[in-house]
Amino acid sequence: MSTMPSRWLFLTLLLLLTLSDLAAGQNKRSRHLHDLYCRSCHSSTIYLLDERKMASPGALVTQVLSYGRDGKVKLSESELRGIAEYLRTAYYDF
Ligand code: HEC
Repeated sequence: MSTMPSRWLFLTLLLLLTLSDLAAGQNKRSRHLHDLYCRSCHSSTIYLLDERKMASPGALVTQVLSYGRDGKVKLSESELRGIAEYLRTAYYDF
């Protein structure tokens, strides 16, 4: 019984490590998709502070989803949401 708490601690740490690995992998894939599909019209400087217009996570997601809706890029909604999340963490500070 006395080993229980450390076993839970170990399992919890393992789970946290796995989750952060998954998130890092997801972000890497989103960055790759972004570089393949989104750089035909604009470079990443458009996301930087002096050029950006997006002011909230919702506006950012709406903008990114619009490319799929308008048929400008052939990516699924979940791929586009992943790219929006990647841009949010890499460039926008909200
Ligand atoms: C067909 C051309 C085109 C493609 C493809 C395109 N964009 Fe854009 N994007 C634009 C234009 C033009 C603007 C600027 C609109 C403006 O300034 O009003 C823009 C603006 C943006 C903005 C707003 C930046 C800001 O904060 O002001 C984001 C975010 C963005 N694009 C993300 C993406 C992503 C992600 C992809 C790929 C899924 C993508 N774009 C593909 C043309 C494109």
